[in-house]
Amino acid sequence: MNSLDTLFSPFKLGPLALANRIVMAPMTRQFSPGNVPNDLVVEYYKRRAEGGVGLIITEGTCIGHKAANGYENVPYFYGEQALAGWKKVVDAVHAAGGKIMPQLWHVGAVRKEGMEPDPSVPGFGPSGLVAPGKKKCHEMTLADIQEVIAAYAQAAKDAMDLGFDGVEIHGAHGYLIDQFFWAGLNERTDEYGGDLVARTRFAVEIIKAVRAATAPDFPIVLRFSQWKMQDYTARLAETPEALAAFLAPLSDAGVDIFHCSTRRFWETEFEGSDLNLAGWTRKLTGKPAITVGSVGLDKAFVDDEKKGFSGGQPASLDKLLEKLNSNEFDLVAVGRALISNPDWPLRLKEGQTMAAYDLEQLKQLV
Ligand code: FNR
Repeated sequence: MNSLDTLFSPFKLGPLALANRIVMAPMTRQFSPGNVPNDLVVEYYKRRAEGGVGLIITEGTCIGHKAANGYENVPYFYGEQALAGWKKVVDAVHAAGGKIMPQLWHVGAVRKEGMEPDPSVPGFGPSGLVAPGKKKCHEMTLADIQEVIAAYAQAAKDAMDLGFDGVEIHGAHGYLIDQFFWAGLNERTDEYGGDLVARTRFAVEIIKAVRAATAPDFPIVLRFSQWKMQDYTARLAETPEALAAFLAPLSDAGVDIFHCSTRRFWETEFEGSDLNLAGWTRKLTGKPAITVGSVGLDKAFVDDEKKGFSGGQPASLDKLLEKLNSNEFDLVAVGRALISNPDWPLRLKEGQTMAAYDLEQLKQLV
């Protein structure tokens, strides 16, 4: 038997003092009409803080750039009304004893035609590719790159001024920052393209700009992934050496915690070791790491390929605790199980039954 003690033990990083190791994973919900988080959104996050989540990472929220948004009714992180909405979210979460960071997002090349704020603006990508081999959007100029970096910095400063406990930079899943990381979409021949290390340059400049616009100890989380929405099998790093080379410049630029996105936390990252992506990241950088992927979901659900998963053996909570207790990673992010159970941490602690996750639950913001 694995004890829950570590999962419910505090975690401290600079000014960030978390009551436990449970993080709410960022999840786009599209319940912000006019791109403004309203009182329903306030209640939604407050419920998770009351339910015992140590750190909430909000749904992806768009930075102030004309091509940042790709979806309807997602919240913006700029403009007086959206920021006022976020202020209410922060205050409610803090009043409930929780901590919260916004996930700062730019969709890049996958922006759909006709999207707000300017329907005439196409997707922006490092090489104008929307998928490997498919040229269809705007290839970013050096001036575009500087504009996006400045928008990230502004959003981070606003987050700090609003009282957020840090920021998460969305560098995962095939969105803009990941489009620079990924050779499949980055064919640039200037200093923002080249080998894997050269392709981190855009992110490195964003992280440095975010640091400069905030404070020396303002927590910066970087979320990254091997997998892309455009291709679940894509990989940035095939070996630990490549992963180390990729992470070093990002770590040096000022990332405080890496959020290592995998679809299943129990999958080993490289042959010959049981470590998962978060485990390798922590080992290679010496920085704290967050793991994520199918925590708290039942086996039948994870096994169902139609729901977007395939292969692999679901692991029990025991496996998660074994990894956490052996310091493979520091924090555990929970996504869908927290949609079905806003009080997932309290239920777990008290041994109560959990509601099963169901896609229907996404139709409401509860
Ligand atoms: C997501 N995920 C996600 N990830 C991210 O970085 N930004 C986002 O805005 C979203 N949006 C989103 C919406 C919905 C409805 C789901 C289910 C997922 C991915 C999410 O953060 C997480 O990594 C995965 O869901 C895997 O964790 P779970 O759900 O298996 O615990």
